[in-house]
Amino acid sequence: MTQKIIVTGGCGYIGSHTTVALQQAGFNVVIFDNLVNSSADVITGITQITGISPEFEQIDCTDLTAIRDAFSRHRDAAGVIHFAALKAVGESVSKPTEYYRNNLVSLLNVLDMMVAFNIPNIVFSSSATVYGDADNLPVREDTPLKPATSPYGQTKVIGESIIRDAVAAHPGLNSCLLRYFNPIGAHPSGLIGESPSGIPNNLLPYITQTAAGIRECLSVFGDDYDTPDGFCIRDYIDVNDLAAAHLSALRYMISHPTGTDVFNLGTGRGVSVMELIKTFEQATGQKLNYKITARRPGDIPAIWADPSRAERLLGWRARVPLSDTLLSAWRWQTKSMKK
Ligand code: NAD
Ligand code: UD1
Repeated sequence: MTQKIIVTGGCGYIGSHTTVALQQAGFNVVIFDNLVNSSADVITGITQITGISPEFEQIDCTDLTAIRDAFSRHRDAAGVIHFAALKAVGESVSKPTEYYRNNLVSLLNVLDMMVAFNIPNIVFSSSATVYGDADNLPVREDTPLKPATSPYGQTKVIGESIIRDAVAAHPGLNSCLLRYFNPIGAHPSGLIGESPSGIPNNLLPYITQTAAGIRECLSVFGDDYDTPDGFCIRDYIDVNDLAAAHLSALRYMISHPTGTDVFNLGTGRGVSVMELIKTFEQATGQKLNYKITARRPGDIPAIWADPSRAERLLGWRARVPLSDTLLSAWRWQTKSMKK
């Protein structure tokens, strides 16, 4: 029988790619999204790729009445993938209560409704931000967590605890906490991708917008870090690989209902800012206008994942070569400008 999955935040960047992966694997998807950081046009892109239109409920997950109604209509769901959250780190510092309310009330409502309607499996979007500036690299899931440096990061730390406690209290409930490293890229079709509003904070959207002439020059934040080439190091993970990991996590939970499990989702390879720029230039043939500037306050010098737990238990690993990922981001940038 076809299983139904509720995808909160399914019109967003990672949620839309995951919806495609779920549909292509034969799941029925229903998206709950209030479109606070996305557009319903994404549904058209998903439908063009898969030939299937996902069901869409335009609701705010903080609205208990609305979410109760929506869950009662989809009480047959086998699981929930909970992406819905606000994610701008800087904005979370200036609007902390908005971030705590949106991210935590949404999560509490989703968990309460899962218990009320006996829906057994939740996959939660966590982040490598929970590790802070880790003492040992690469980070493993048992690497000690550091206090979060922003209200946004704090919503992930608290969110993980809330889920662990809810799962401990409700034997029928299982969870996978997925700690994403740096998701980048777009669907190879160029039909869905990342659409940051305003000036991008993240590196790759800034690179593609600079190459496209929307931004004049990329600022590279710092070249004097204690790393091999002096630039910050991150673990950039293709969004389609990330989407596939959600599918693996769901299947794992459906076949091993084991309480709470946590997985790093990264490639296991650290890439410096300069290496990313050079790989982008080579992959796309675009020359990038950039300048070295001061360090960005709060940046950590280096972090990358040990993803071996996900490989061992979920049978998942990152597969897309970095140059293909950068090409997909560039394709999305150029295609979305023509719309
Ligand atoms: P996104 O903003 O593109 O997608 C989030 C979606 O959730 C949007 O469509 C938004 O409209 C929706 N949403 C937000 N609040 C909602 C609410 N109250 N009710 C209903 N819908 C709501 O973000 P994304 O990059 O796809 O991130 C998805 C998840 O992954 C988030 O939880 C984010 O914190 C987490 N995450 C993202 C990254 C990253 O770099 N993109 C890294 C680590 C973790
Ligand atoms: C940021 C968030 C983190 C979030 C992650 C993925 C902060 C402190 N952390 O992390 O919570 O999970 O995004 O969404 O904001 N860079 C430049 N120039 C730019 C932009 C970035 O040089 O214009 C550099 C940064 O210094 C960093 C790297 O590129 O070294 C990646 O930056 P970014 O994409 O913002 O990701 P993170 O810093 O890892």
